Amino acid sequence: MIIEPKIRGFICLTAHPEGCKQNVLNQIAYVKSKKAIDGAKKVLVIGASTGFGLASRITSAFGSGAATIGVYFEKPPAEGKTASAGWYNTAAFEAQAQEAGLYAKSINGDAFSDEIKQKTIDLIKADLGQVDLIIYSLASPRRTNPKTGVTHNSVIKPIGEVFTNKTVDFHTGVVSEISINPATEEEIANTVAVMGGEDWKFWIDDLKAAGVLADGAITVAYSYIGPEVTERVYSKGTIGKAKKDLENASKQINDSLAAIGGKALISVNKALVTQASSAIPVIPLYISLLYKVMKQEGIHEGCIEQIERLFQERLYTGGEIPTDAEGRVRVDDWEMRDDVQAQVAKLWLEADTESLVELGDLKGYKTDFLNLFGFDVPGVNYQDDVNELVAIPGLV
Ligand code: NAD
Ligand code: NA
Repeated sequence: MIIEPKIRGFICLTAHPEGCKQNVLNQIAYVKSKKAIDGAKKVLVIGASTGFGLASRITSAFGSGAATIGVYFEKPPAEGKTASAGWYNTAAFEAQAQEAGLYAKSINGDAFSDEIKQKTIDLIKADLGQVDLIIYSLASPRRTNPKTGVTHNSVIKPIGEVFTNKTVDFHTGVVSEISINPATEEEIANTVAVMGGEDWKFWIDDLKAAGVLADGAITVAYSYIGPEVTERVYSKGTIGKAKKDLENASKQINDSLAAIGGKALISVNKALVTQASSAIPVIPLYISLLYKVMKQEGIHEGCIEQIERLFQERLYTGGEIPTDAEGRVRVDDWEMRDDVQAQVAKLWLEADTESLVELGDLKGYKTDFLNLFGFDVPGVNYQDDVNELVAIPGLV
């Protein structure tokens, strides 16, 4: 079939297998262009099909020659209906990995459930024995707690008072003012239940109890902080509470891993266009201004550049892992540079519908958004008939 983007708000209902494949090939080529990383050899990535998780899987496999197991929740294709992008990404990655002689298998299902955790443990036991790196990179709007059966929905809201600021509809370029009502206590608790650290703890507890964590294993979860302009809706809002909870979980997990000489870490990454971040109000305007400034400064990075740098220059240098005063690994250092933030803050005040065309990188935003679904990728012929029924080689 010929596949076109079908965009509804913050999502695209279709995905292009060839475009997704090309994105994966580009990421693999990037990692291969860098020097080899003396990293983990058996890696589990939870949230492995898109964004930072996919980049982590690619960096592990093609940077360190690692065997990888990926866990994700993606929609398979059906006759005349495309799969979700993460399905096609995974299909392309596993084909490339297996061709390169690297073990690559995956599990599609709800990572929050006990069933998928058990299935993952069984697969590790059967094929790898143990893992030495566990990347936790889930982004989800809801979670059913397997212990209580309760389904929690997250909200992106400020805490305490109404938040009013600018935002942009990145499809139309219209800048408008948005007011978001503060979250209720219940909404805060639900957001923490979804995006906080409880599930990460459940994962590591189960993996440890099953004896599938190698001595010295490390686990890394991804977080975001960001600047003052977004703090009321991000770091000091409901999602920020959840990220605080994730940080607290890292300390508990760290204590529990001490027995095997292991470590739990938070890596604070930069703001990027992903399916998760497009849905957060105010953030797309911030990202479009940030992209403009970082590209001008020659320090722009996508997911793969961020994660390759995380592995190469933070996690696997052979020495101590550098952290901030709170013990967090930082690869948002270039985003948070004083000169970068000063420029973004200035542009923020000036940005309106007319001026954003010049001041911001809306074009880069839109391209990145389409790229997430395999569209607008250079080198792909979108007029071609393609087979939507792509299989994932290592799907268990
Ligand atoms: P993403 O939406 O690209 O990836 C989410 C992944 O989670 C996908 O692989 C998806 O299949 C998987 N997933 C979601 N629900 C699942 C479920 N129930 N079971 C199994 N898999 C499930 O998101 P991302 O932007 O890469 O975010 C990953 C992490 O990085 C998040 O913790 C996010 O907060 C953090 N982060 C994001 C940014 C950003 O700007 N995008 C910046 C810093 C940190
Ligand atoms: Na991810």
